[in-house]
Formats: sequence, C-alpha cells, structure tokens
Amino acid sequence: MQNYHRPVLHFTPQKGWINDPNGLVYENGNYHLFAQHYPDDIQWGPMHWYHAVSKDLVHWQHLPIALAPDELGMIFSGSAVYDAENTSGFGSKEHPPIVAMYTSHGETEQQSLAWSVDFVHFHKYEGNPVIPNTALPDFRDPKILPNPQGGWTVVLAAGDRVVFYASQNLKDWEKTGEFYEGNHSAGVWECPDLFPLMIGGQEKWVLLVSMSAEHENHGSRTQYFLGQFDGKTFVCDQPFSKPEWIDQGYDNYAGVTFHNTQQRILMGWGMNWAYSSYIPADTYKGNMTLARKLALVETPMGGIRLAQTPIADGVFDSGTPCDGTLPGGLFRLHIKGSGVGTVTLSNSRGQELTLGVDEQNRLFTDRSRAGAVDFDEDFASDWYAKTLSPRWYEGDWEMDVIFDHTICELFMDEGTLAVTQLVFPDGGYDRVTASPNLQLTVYAPV
Ligand code: FRU
Repeated sequence: MQNYHRPVLHFTPQKGWINDPNGLVYENGNYHLFAQHYPDDIQWGPMHWYHAVSKDLVHWQHLPIALAPDELGMIFSGSAVYDAENTSGFGSKEHPPIVAMYTSHGETEQQSLAWSVDFVHFHKYEGNPVIPNTALPDFRDPKILPNPQGGWTVVLAAGDRVVFYASQNLKDWEKTGEFYEGNHSAGVWECPDLFPLMIGGQEKWVLLVSMSAEHENHGSRTQYFLGQFDGKTFVCDQPFSKPEWIDQGYDNYAGVTFHNTQQRILMGWGMNWAYSSYIPADTYKGNMTLARKLALVETPMGGIRLAQTPIADGVFDSGTPCDGTLPGGLFRLHIKGSGVGTVTLSNSRGQELTLGVDEQNRLFTDRSRAGAVDFDEDFASDWYAKTLSPRWYEGDWEMDVIFDHTICELFMDEGTLAVTQLVFPDGGYDRVTASPNLQLTVYAPV
C-alpha cells in the first residue's frame, strides 16, 4: 500500500519499521534519538536500535543502526545517559561515553549495556547481562536516571509493577524498591520513566508507565503518577481515581524523556499497537510525536497535572487570520474560542477531521471521516476514532493544532490536555470551516 504523504516535521525512519523511542540523550549540542527498529520489513520483527541525531529536535540526520540482535537476543527498548564523569570507565574524562542500557530479549528478558565514545559506533559490554532475570516473563525497558543521592538509578517494568535498581558505575546494580500501587488500568507495564519537575518552588517526581494494548485502555497508552523518590523507591502522593493519561489521543505510546537537558523533553511513538500493523504504508512504518517540553501546573479543578508544549521552533511563519484556506500538508492552527465551537479541516475529496469543545465543556476530536479508515476495524470504530475529554479550565479557551500530513497534535488548557491522532487523508486538508464564535490564525511553514 501507499505511504500517505510522509510527515515532514515528525521523525520517520528512512525505511523499515520503528516503534518506541529509545536512548534519548543530549551531548554537546546534539540530541540523540534511537528507536526500536526492524530494517527488513515494514512490520515488527527482530529488533535493532535505529539511530538519528538532531541539533534542534526538528531536523534529523540518519545514522547507521546502533545495535543489532546477538546471542542474548533481540535489542528491546532502553535508555542512554551521557556519562560526563566517566563513572562507568568505558571512556575517559576527556572522552566521556554515552552508555546505553537495553533489554536483551531472548529466552528471558535481561538488561545489557552498550557504550560509545564517538557517539556513532556502539560496543556491547562483555559483562552482559548486567541485570539478569530470575523468572519473570516481562522484565524490560530500563530507564537510567541520575540518583538524587548520587550515582545512578534504573527504573524498569516487571509485569504489573516497576522496580528500581541503583549503581555507582552503571555496571553493578542492586535492587532498591518496587512500585505498583494505584494502578487502575489493564495491561502489562512497559517503558517507565522517572524524573523530577518543580512546582511552586518544590520538587515533585513524575513516574510515566506505558500500558500495553488493552481494549479498556483504548489500546496502548501512557499513564503517569505524581509523588516522591528518595533514591530507592517511588511513593505516590497524589493518587488519581482513574488512569491519568499523558495524552487523550490514541497515538502517543512509550514516551520517555531525554537525559542531560536543561528542560525536561518528552518524545513518544506516534502510534497505537491496536492497529500499527495495518495502517497504510509502503517503504517505512512508524513516526515519533513531536518533542514536547514538560512542566507541572496547578489546575483549578483537580490538583497538579502534567503539561506539554510542542517544540517546533523556526518551522512556521508569524501567522495570518484564517480566510478559510489552509496550506495543506503541514500547518499550525491557533483557535480562540468561548463556549461551544467546532472546527472542520477538509480536503477536495470530502474527507474531514473535526475538533472543538462541546456543550459540556469537553474537548472532542473525530477522525471517523478523516480519510482512509477501512484498513482496520478498530481505527474507524468510535472507540479509536473519537476522543472526548473533560477540560481542566472553565470559560474562554485556546487550542494549538499542529498538523503534519498524517499526524495531528492538539494542545489546550495550558498543555494539560494533549491529543495526538493519526489520520490518512488522500489529499492535504486545504480548507477549514469554523463556528462563527471562533477566531482562527493559520501559520504556514516558512
Ligand atoms: C513497547 C514494547 C516494549 C518492548 C518493545 C519491543 O512498545 O513492547 O515493552 O521493549 O516494545 O519492540
């Protein structure tokens, strides 16, 4: 089948399949992105690590595959850190290494290391695995972070929980804790991340947990917990009564953050396991979400929430009031509204994507008529085509929409509501209609 206009702002592989972002790390002006990758087909297969590098998180240079399967198994998801002090001894003070930890997926799942000092060629550690598995069927996706007490921590997913390990040298690890309370969602836990953010002069820790594809979750989605981390284990201090998803849409999974950046930056796989095998594609399959800056905000109705701001610096012009036309494949749309309002993006084929705010102050999107939908019954079903999310704020509203050929990212309520949805129109949306009470500004690519 045909690739429906490859996104230009969102990261895609040159060819083959990608899923989870892995090893997100910053060093000396370069953002490194690795990804779960099968080079020989556009379906999931024996996993490698794709590698690309960027100066601005918008333009990417593709690099050779960083890691390929070996006698311990496939190279499943994991993370990387810039080991500036050379605590691992893999490099030197003059040439600090990037150290990656990934899951070796063979007869069992265990954690292994690889390192590089030129940040292109990676060497597997001869002492692998560094965290062997005892008996768990699911024991994967290690995320390394600086331990607030010194040294390093790893958080990794173990079935229905996350477990924590600590180390001084990235090679010798000791278990320090587990967290599993407050899970309201079905599915195996995957791809955790743990990081601090400041709110009101205080530090709060955010634990991200991706939940494998379950119908109850609307497929694969990522939830978060807020709490404290003492260097050993995480304790939730603001329990939610239902899963608190980082994204109200259905196409943002396995998101994790960069190591070694000033601001906390998240990137996810712009896809859902529910239909990832079936979406229209020819030479490649899979894209990332935009990189997003993370913050915590105090909301008027429900305590503290995670907020996201997309990074697309230098991509769009300074904007013009909308006259009913759109640039087609790539554009940004800012919508100001009060009360109920609907916006419909459409093309000459009569395909349309609608979004807005309804009578009950809920954000909605509907992609059921947005383009190709019949490749899979899930994609077009109400369950996956329509989103409906209570807003955190009352009254006037603003919505920021970034549309890029086959992926739409929408943010409102200070970024506490994010919706990421794939769509497959046969031609770019080049026209827009809106309720008369809405003000639209269009930003074209420069
Ligand atoms: C999440 C995941 C991970 C695993 C990887 C395999 O999407 O299932 O748990 O490491 O994908 O590709």
